[in-house]
Amino acid sequence: MEDNKSVDNPITDHIPGNPKLLVIDDDANFLFGISRLLTKADFTVIAATDGVTGIAKAQSECPDLILMDINMPKMTGFQVKKALEIDPVTQFIPVVFLTALNDDASMLAGLSLAEDYITKPVDSTILAARIKSILRRVKTGMRRAIIESDKSFSFERFKQWAYSVEMMDERSVGHTTRVANLAVTLAKSMGYIDDSFLENMYKGSFLHDIGKLAIPDKVLNKPGPLSAEEWELMRQHPLVASHMLSSVPILKNATEIPLMHHERWDGKGYPNHLAGEQIPISVRIFTIVDVYDALTSKRPYKEAISEENSLQIIRSLAGKQFDPAAVEHFATHFQEIISESEKLHQQYVQSEAG
Ligand SMILES: [Fe+2]
Repeated sequence: MEDNKSVDNPITDHIPGNPKLLVIDDDANFLFGISRLLTKADFTVIAATDGVTGIAKAQSECPDLILMDINMPKMTGFQVKKALEIDPVTQFIPVVFLTALNDDASMLAGLSLAEDYITKPVDSTILAARIKSILRRVKTGMRRAIIESDKSFSFERFKQWAYSVEMMDERSVGHTTRVANLAVTLAKSMGYIDDSFLENMYKGSFLHDIGKLAIPDKVLNKPGPLSAEEWELMRQHPLVASHMLSSVPILKNATEIPLMHHERWDGKGYPNHLAGEQIPISVRIFTIVDVYDALTSKRPYKEAISEENSLQIIRSLAGKQFDPAAVEHFATHFQEIISESEKLHQQYVQSEAG
C-alpha cells in the first residue's frame, strides 16, 4: 500500500517573470495599499486576508515569496508558517513577516521561523529592495531544497509526520497504525475489496490527524478544557490536513478521512456538518474504529475500557455519531474483525522493525 513514485513538482514547474508575491494580511486597507505599491515595484501580487485562504493560495499559486502579518484571526502568521512547512508543495517558499509587533520576543520568534522580519510602517522602496535581496539569497538554497524535496513525496515521508503527531499528542501513541489496520479490516469485512479504495482508506486513516501538526503543543496537550478560541483552532486540523494532502498527487485521493473524520451521522460534527450518507463510507467506517481504539486504549487521564464495554458504547452511539448499518456489521462480526486486524498490526510492527 505504498507508493514511492516521483511526482510533478509545482515549484519547479513555475518559471516566474516578475517575482510572484503572496501577501497575507487581515487589514484590507493595508493589503490594498501594499499590493498597489509592490505591483508598481514590478512584483506580481496575490492577496489573502486570512491564513487559511493564504495557505490555499500558496498551494495553488506557488508564489516566490510570502509576505505575511502575524496577528490575524483564524490562524496566526506563526501557525500559517508551520502549516506551510509541513506541506511538500509550500515548505520551501520563503516567508517574511511584516507586522506591527516590534517587541523582542516576537521578533526573535519570527526570525527563528522566517527569512526576515520587518516591522510596520515600512517604506515601500526599502521593502521592495529587501524582498529582492531575499529572493536572490534564497535562490541557491531553494534549488537545493527542491531537488531534495523530490524524494519527500512518498507515503513513507508522510508516515514519519504521522508518528510525529503521535509524539506531540501524548495521548495517542500507536493509535494511527492500529486504526489504519482496523479500518481496512472492517471495510473488507463489509465487502469493500477494491484495491485502490482500500489503499486510499489505509493512507487516509494513517494520516487522519496530520493536520494537528499546525496546532500549538500547548493547545494539543492542554490538561484542562479548551477555551472557545482554542477549540476554534483545534477544529482547523481537518482543513489543514486536507490542504496538505490534496496537493500531493499520491495522496490527493486519501483526503476524505483526514478532512471528514470529525463529521457525525447526525450532522453535529465539523468542519462541514455533513450528515448520514453525505459522509463517504470510508469515513463512516473509520470514525467507528477511531473511537473504538480510543476507548480501548489507556490514556493518562483514563484506564483502558474493555472490548465488550467499548463495543456497547459504540452501539449506543449508532444513529447519533455513527452509521447504524456499519456499527451493526462491526458488532456482528466483532471477534473476527478484531483478531484479523491484530494479525495485520503485528505483521506491520514486524515489518517496520525489520
Ligand atoms: Fe482529529
